[in-house]
Amino acid sequence: MLRRLRRWPSGAVSSSKAARFYGGINSTWDYGPLGVELKNNVKRAWWRSMVQLRDDIVGLDAAILMAPDVWRASGHVEQFTDPMVDCKSCKMRFRADHLEGDRCPNCGGELTEPRQFNMMFKTFMGPVEEDAAVVYLRPETAQGIFVNFQNVRTITRRRLPFGIAQIGKSFRNEISPGNFIFRSREFEQMECEYFVPPAQAEDAYRAWIQERHAWYLSLGIKPESLRLREHTPDELSHYSAGTTDIEFLFPWGWGELEGIANRTDYDLRRHSEVSGKDLTYVDDLTNERYLPYVVEPAAGVDRTVMALLCDAYDEVEVNGEQRTFLRLHHSLAPYKVAVLPLSKKDSLIGVAHEIERTLRPHWMITYDETQSIGRRYARQDEIGTPFCVTIDFDSLEDHAVTIRERDSMAQVRVPIARLVSALAERLAPSGTVPLQVAGI
Ligand code: GAP
Repeated sequence: MLRRLRRWPSGAVSSSKAARFYGGINSTWDYGPLGVELKNNVKRAWWRSMVQLRDDIVGLDAAILMAPDVWRASGHVEQFTDPMVDCKSCKMRFRADHLEGDRCPNCGGELTEPRQFNMMFKTFMGPVEEDAAVVYLRPETAQGIFVNFQNVRTITRRRLPFGIAQIGKSFRNEISPGNFIFRSREFEQMECEYFVPPAQAEDAYRAWIQERHAWYLSLGIKPESLRLREHTPDELSHYSAGTTDIEFLFPWGWGELEGIANRTDYDLRRHSEVSGKDLTYVDDLTNERYLPYVVEPAAGVDRTVMALLCDAYDEVEVNGEQRTFLRLHHSLAPYKVAVLPLSKKDSLIGVAHEIERTLRPHWMITYDETQSIGRRYARQDEIGTPFCVTIDFDSLEDHAVTIRERDSMAQVRVPIARLVSALAERLAPSGTVPLQVAGI
């Protein structure tokens, strides 16, 4: 299935190894014209539920390159490491904590002792490499939020609890990237830092686990494809007092989609200590002064895309032919509607283009006039387009067209004058309204 998804469809939709042209570079990926639509729709759905529909979270777009002290304060320079081992025979390199047994999984050879390897990418800022400052590509978007906490809170005049949400690229020099877009070295995160009074952190942590689980269900992911897994104490990151992963059942087994962590006041305390800036919050009702605690739901865009592709992928037999359907939630489908003239006759093409122009301001539309109508429906089913609009010779007489639905394959005739509203009624609204974060 993974192999089929990689090629889906004809290599244009999902990712392909970046710069394949030059032999490619390991574990970075380009998204094609349909992949970028799917990815943007995932990000839009997240932003809608985290920022648009809530009055307690605001957005941010922080820089990728930040002062190196940020990463010293956050603990990433010291502690953002993975244990690495090398095979003494075949020289392959592995993450020690991903191995079963103490021999090389490739050739059975003897392995070196584990060494700690820092996963941050370094680069140089300034024109002359020798005197230039070393800077890091951010390995998480979260720190951009912590260093802006006081700024954003003040200018938005927020009382706690309140959150800051951000979507953006992160970079990690992973020892063993793999499983397609699941683990790569350049990827996108959707993170929120939710600042709460310390006494409310545990309740907020539990509430966010439910909230985020509900979000994946609202995208149409099957309940049985998801599970929650709480980290054991020895698994916890250096900043966490408790972490629960939302996991998805990928073709190779359960894997993390998102982590929800109680980061305590670790980050604000460290930034306060290293920078000397006071990051405490004063409650104007109680006059209490304290460092807020932080609950962090941290998700991956690429992993969500991967999970959606796996979950929505379906193969069925239609009229003796094996057919592929991508049963994506309407709000996530790259194209919402395909406009298909039954034949290439000028009269039909003219009407079809007019309909295409009418629909484009409302949704992402695709137009296709090549090959048989059956082939064209199949092509749209394969990329998840929920509706096809077919213009036939009767359309010239009755000024009506056929709407054909992806999952049921049912067809209904609709007047062209009512087409926009007929499609709007049928297209499911995006996601659900978020659960209330209870008790805070
Ligand atoms: N700020 C907390 C943090 O970064 P994380 O669990 O390391 O926590 C959050 O990352 C999410 O980012 C993960 O659940 C995953 O979806 C995504 N992610 C992390 N590393 C990744 C990688 N190498 N490739 C793709 N996605 C990744």
